[in-house]
Amino acid sequence: MNKAVTYSMENDIAIVMIDSPPVNAVDQSVRAGLKQVFTELREKSGINAIVLGCAGKTFVAGADIKEFNTGIAAPGYHEVLRLIEDSPVPVIAAVHGTALGAGTEIALACHYRVAHEGARFGLPELSLGIIPGAGGTQRLPRVVPLDVALDMTLSGKPLPAAKAAEAGLADAVVGGEVVPAAVAFARTLVTKGAGPRRTREQAVKGAEQATELFAAKRAQIAKTMRNRQSPIALISALEAAVTQPFDQGLQVEGKLSGQLEQATEAKALRHLFYAEREVRKIPGLAADIAPRPVARVGIVGAGTMGGGIAMCCVNAGIPVTLVDAVQQNLDRGMATIRKNYERSVARGSLQPEQLEERIKLIIPSLDFAALADADLIIEAVFENFALKKEIFAKLDAVAKPGAILGTNTSTLDIDLIAAVTRRPQDVIGLHFFSPANVMQLLEIVQAGKTAPDVVVTALEFAKRIKKTGVVAKVCYGFIGNRMMDPYAREAEHCLLEGATPEQVDGALEQWGMAMGIIAVFDMAGVDIGHLTRAERKHLLPKDPGFYRPTAMLTERGWLGQKTGRGYYRYDGAERKRTPDPEVVALLHEEGRRLNIEQRKPSAQEIQERCLYAMINEGALLLEEGITLRASDIDVVYTAGYGFPRYRGGPMFYADTVGLKAVYDKIIEFQKMLDPQYWQPAPLLKKLALAGSSFAQWQAEQSR
Ligand SMILES: NC(=O)c1ccc[n+]([C@@H]2O[C@H](COP(=O)([O-])OP(=O)(O)OC[C@H]3O[C@@H](n4cnc5c(N)ncnc54)[C@H](O)[C@@H]3O)[C@@H](O)[C@H]2O)c1
Repeated sequence: MNKAVTYSMENDIAIVMIDSPPVNAVDQSVRAGLKQVFTELREKSGINAIVLGCAGKTFVAGADIKEFNTGIAAPGYHEVLRLIEDSPVPVIAAVHGTALGAGTEIALACHYRVAHEGARFGLPELSLGIIPGAGGTQRLPRVVPLDVALDMTLSGKPLPAAKAAEAGLADAVVGGEVVPAAVAFARTLVTKGAGPRRTREQAVKGAEQATELFAAKRAQIAKTMRNRQSPIALISALEAAVTQPFDQGLQVEGKLSGQLEQATEAKALRHLFYAEREVRKIPGLAADIAPRPVARVGIVGAGTMGGGIAMCCVNAGIPVTLVDAVQQNLDRGMATIRKNYERSVARGSLQPEQLEERIKLIIPSLDFAALADADLIIEAVFENFALKKEIFAKLDAVAKPGAILGTNTSTLDIDLIAAVTRRPQDVIGLHFFSPANVMQLLEIVQAGKTAPDVVVTALEFAKRIKKTGVVAKVCYGFIGNRMMDPYAREAEHCLLEGATPEQVDGALEQWGMAMGIIAVFDMAGVDIGHLTRAERKHLLPKDPGFYRPTAMLTERGWLGQKTGRGYYRYDGAERKRTPDPEVVALLHEEGRRLNIEQRKPSAQEIQERCLYAMINEGALLLEEGITLRASDIDVVYTAGYGFPRYRGGPMFYADTVGLKAVYDKIIEFQKMLDPQYWQPAPLLKKLALAGSSFAQWQAEQSR
């Protein structure tokens, strides 16, 4: 007897239950179980309806992703779903939790759907670079209007029960237990003499608007989902639902699915799916190390970062003590937090009472003694070494024994900060990204003496506040900013060689970066990087062109969006970036003055220079042991730096280009450009010449 799928009888109604913990994902055993049970029920007499529900906390929440690698073992989805749909008596899906992917496709193959009020229906396949492949693209628009089907599949966002009912996806929404409610619904159908309502026999809803809808969505994809294959394939599959009979439509869906599954886009997105799980595994840390309890967080500095970090904590229900040295700054910090929440209330994503609850969880204070009961204290004061040392000495004096002392520094040496305390084992880097309440990434920086359970606590804390925590070791810029440095260096240099900011940003955005680096500088403040470099001047290359544009703009007070002009101009209420011919002329003139060859780099050259410089630095980080895995770098970049997920992250991308090709290009740049910047990392060279890849190297390391 198959354990994943069983049935019981309630008089003339069969109740089929899928029970495959933790989330009832469909694998071979679930398909085989469904096949067995539905075949048996067909033969059985005295059955007037079938309810299909799930045990545990959710309806089927997807397909087993491992089958991508192994292939789908028989019985296949179509066979099983057809069997359900062909049932001679009505089949009612009883949906609770989240029906995702194959879950929604199973529900669509049922004749009716009863949803718990908290249930959601989603087809998020595009996030894995594929399209629904179990008939979802053909059945969904036969159940909900075509525009809803398009929005649901393109956004991947699950539809809540109430909206699903509005769209026709749920026939009833109920509170309480969903299976008994579905049984009651089934009884009504039986009484009414209603038979099966097979989705494949329905007409597509809203087909008359199909031409306009598809055109509009194709235009939207070209704009917002650049370089991606799966959304285009999705439209083609939905189009087949409109223009072709069901069975042919299924064939179109199948062919497109097969092509997508093997494409780089899907491989990249699957890579990230696994990489994001892998980041939590830290080799050398015993699995039984318990995290320290974190019941209250202290934050020092109520500025941009401190305020955002406070929001992350209280959003997760963790009370915060927020300390600043200046009353005015503390007040401003609290006011900003309130303003941010008010915006969420205005958008409807937060209830007014939740706003008050969250604010109440923050105790503002000017007194460091207020931090005495905090389990974790995060310092986010100005980026100044003397100040940070002073703060850590104070924290050492007031924090309770065992409290974790975190610093949000972006550039300073955490070992040296830890050394001013009597408890360096409790000190760790917690590098948030701005805006901290929004950005997904948290770099967890393990200093030389950081205790293992402090790292485990930081990872656990990241999870609690819904961040992706990635562990790094101490070095200048950790993982993210260190790799950003050569990437941006090349972008800046291109400006001195005769490229314009629009050309540089355009090339990077065309390639897929969420925002070109020059525009990023304008957004973050042109002076930020410049001031950090000024502090480290003695360590930087003796090259007058090195980051010269930021220096020139900072000297002029053209600091970016905050001053209305930087590399671009930001006029008007919208603050839209527009080219600034004065800046372009200034930088080109400077390039000539410095005798920099005016080569006017092409888009491809800009992309290769920026990205390969970044990848080369990533290889150095791997060699130096700053990062544990190439895939961790990919997580850092996709979660924190607007790197396109569909390219898998910089190291995965390098593998798709081929390390030999990347290496050869670096050697070409070495001859063509300033050789001091184009020294291939030894690891990159070794792997390139051996015909290997970062993925292969990583697999060998973990063996
Ligand atoms: N802004 C970013 O994009 C960003 C991103 C990542 C990390 N960081 C790092 O986060 C830290 C804070 O940056 P920020 O942008 O939030 O700075 P900020 O200038 O917005 O805020 C700093 C706050 O610290 C307070 N402060 C200064 N001295 C203090 C003291 N002795 N005791 C208590 N409070 C004191 C100030 O009053 C101010 O409110 C820096 O180390 C920075 O490098 C910033």
